[in-house]
Amino acid sequence: MASDGYQTVAKVGEIPEGQGRVYEVGGRLIAVFLDEGKYYAIDDACPHQGAPLSDGIVFDKSVTCTWHGWRFSLETGKHLEGSRCRVATYPVRVEGDEIQVQVR
Ligand code: FES
Repeated sequence: MASDGYQTVAKVGEIPEGQGRVYEVGGRLIAVFLDEGKYYAIDDACPHQGAPLSDGIVFDKSVTCTWHGWRFSLETGKHLEGSRCRVATYPVRVEGDEIQVQVR
């Protein structure tokens, strides 16, 4: 892990556009998505009943859980249908061909 907390999770090209993949970073399962050319990282576990959000449906900077359809912003982690639930979000950067997530 770099001193600034960023950890390489994958190489560019390993996460297809419009999909997510799950990685263990700092002991947490973090879902990393590529949506319209930009990477996002959030906690993988859906706060409703724990489904893996990395399997969710990605569109318009959001992911929809496949179990019961809760939809979360990839930018803020907020549940987009009004509840106060949210998932944690993490900074992502690309260094060379490495996708890195910052976990502190
Ligand atoms: S577990 Fe995700 S919506 Fe129910």
